[in-house]
Amino acid sequence: MNTKESMTIKEKLAQSKEEMETLLVNRKPSVGIILGSGLGDFAHEIKDPIQIPFEQISFMGKSTANSHVGQFVCGMIEGHCVLAMQGRLHGYEGYSAQEVAYPVWLMHELGITTLITTNAAGAINQSYRVGDFCIMYDHINFTGRNPIANREATEIGPRFFSLYHAYDEALRKCAMQVAQSHDIRAHEGVYLAVLGPSFETAAEIRMFGDWGADTVAMSVVEEVIAARQVGMRVMGMSLCTNMGCGIEASNPDDEEVVEVAAQKLPEFSTIIKGVVASI
Ligand code: HPA
Repeated sequence: MNTKESMTIKEKLAQSKEEMETLLVNRKPSVGIILGSGLGDFAHEIKDPIQIPFEQISFMGKSTANSHVGQFVCGMIEGHCVLAMQGRLHGYEGYSAQEVAYPVWLMHELGITTLITTNAAGAINQSYRVGDFCIMYDHINFTGRNPIANREATEIGPRFFSLYHAYDEALRKCAMQVAQSHDIRAHEGVYLAVLGPSFETAAEIRMFGDWGADTVAMSVVEEVIAARQVGMRVMGMSLCTNMGCGIEASNPDDEEVVEVAAQKLPEFSTIIKGVVASI
């Protein structure tokens, strides 16, 4: 038997997969959904749910962030078997980029081919309003980290791969159509990720805007990079819970983020369900 230290990432994933499959019995999820800050209650929409706390699975980190429950929820949405993460792992909790990406690689091992990753974000684009959704069409990785930048990365997939069109066009267009048909304000935009956990300065927000970023938050990009390495279809969606620091004198705080997310949960659910139905 391997000791934890001597196991390769492939061996760890195989063990985690076996544990997940035992708990999932015969369920075979095909869609992964990562629920960001304040958005975890979407898991209540999942029919016939099985809950698996992250700590029941070897090599998974535990959620420490406010409003992140820290469990997998598997069940049915719009006729599809989904595996949702009610809460995620962040770099600002002290997790390495590889630890943040681990559940995405685990989803891939379980046969999941589509990843929908969501978060709460600050809006940088001044035509956006608090409560708007932003469907990602590209990202800027300003975390300084990349889950593939380690010696084991090539066990999982290629070291070098393109992030051109990383966000699936059909899923993006579908999300926009669903939003439009329900009179939900939504945009397609460029998402910029920072490490956090401090919010940005007003000067940083101005700079990110000059770079072409429409939204900013502290997650998502490491998951998306990991998913693209193994060829998953990806959709990313932010809920703008606040304007970026300094815009309209915004001074973001964590409570506001969770409060706005809770208010917007019905609209969030409408978009996600519409997209899942289209898969
Ligand atoms: N900045 C970074 N992360 C965030 C923000 C923000 O303004 N809002 C929600 N998450």
